[in-house]
Amino acid sequence: MRILVTGGAGFIGSHYVRTLLGPDGPGGLDTVTVLDKLTYAGNPANLDGVRDDARFEFVHGDIRDAELVGKLVAEHDQVVHFAAESHVDRSILGAAEFVLTNVVGTQTLLDAALHSGPTTFVYVSTDEVYGSIAEGSWPETDPLSPNSPYAASKAAGDLLALSYHRTHGLDVRVTRCSNNYGTHHFPEKVIPLFITNLLDGLKVPLYGDGLNVRDWLHVDDHVRGIELVRAGGRSGEVYNIGGGTELNNRELTGLLLEAFGADESSIAYVEDRKGHDRRYSVDWTKIKEELGYHPRKDFATGLAETVAWYRDNRAWWEPLKAGARVG
Ligand SMILES: NC(=O)c1ccc[n+]([C@@H]2O[C@H](COP(=O)([O-])OP(=O)(O)OC[C@H]3O[C@@H](n4cnc5c(N)ncnc54)[C@H](O)[C@@H]3O)[C@@H](O)[C@H]2O)c1
Repeated sequence: MRILVTGGAGFIGSHYVRTLLGPDGPGGLDTVTVLDKLTYAGNPANLDGVRDDARFEFVHGDIRDAELVGKLVAEHDQVVHFAAESHVDRSILGAAEFVLTNVVGTQTLLDAALHSGPTTFVYVSTDEVYGSIAEGSWPETDPLSPNSPYAASKAAGDLLALSYHRTHGLDVRVTRCSNNYGTHHFPEKVIPLFITNLLDGLKVPLYGDGLNVRDWLHVDDHVRGIELVRAGGRSGEVYNIGGGTELNNRELTGLLLEAFGADESSIAYVEDRKGHDRRYSVDWTKIKEELGYHPRKDFATGLAETVAWYRDNRAWWEPLKAGARVG
């Protein structure tokens, strides 16, 4: 089995590659190739743990490069597609890169898969494609109603992937996961931003009234869900991945302040994000019943481990923080 992982130098993709090649990875893997452009969010250091594995290969390149992508996809049996511009705030400042990578890049990969031998294509989508929900949870059958340019570009890639299944019969599987947290998370995202600010004795910027709700899932649980879908999911199907801990941003901030022995005076209230979705919540019954998925990491343990990792790995995040400021 030869697997091509796009965006494998980023946060979730690198966790995925370490899992594939780790002691709990699937048997029978011949090659795991990462294709990554190494944008500001891609970090070769995220792959240090697997660099010496004989099955691992790294290719520095762009998913929009049709010639390169065509060659690489033809050399692999499966594609797990993580590569994306992933930060909502950046998409509000400028959407062009989001459309080029998340839409055109996805279409380039899909075309390559179509013109190769039989290829399984896993598209790593997001719960943000559904929009915002005040109560209850979205099943996979709900219509997509994305609000930010990031979510809209992910929805376009998601629907394109499904269209290649319906039109051409390509073996496409889509996952839509809730917010992830864990180690190696770029320090522009709320949890690592707040942790690293607190480590530096700085205030944490809380958007608006702080009552936006997210379902926080440990990255290892997301990776486990993707693996179940890659190995046993059905072609043409969408699988929500959730089951984390639902918290509003005030509650999340309170837990982080507590971890540092800090109080409310460390909060700086800032103007709300434009079009800020109020709440996300996916119904993950389908992946639980069909594939036996269940999240394993409880939030208190996962958050404590994450805080400890950032405390111990200042050399990883400190150089990244200057580039992280977008507003
Ligand atoms: N972070 C979350 O909470 C979350 C939740 C659900 C789904 N997702 C999805 O999971 C995927 C990975 O998210 P992440 O948080 O790890 O993102 P990330 O920003 O940490 O990593 C993205 C990676 O893609 C690479 N990349 C960007 N443009 C590229 C291009 N044109 N060609 C090749 N490589 C390119 C970057 O260099 C980087 O390594 C994304 O598709 C995202 O939409 C993320």
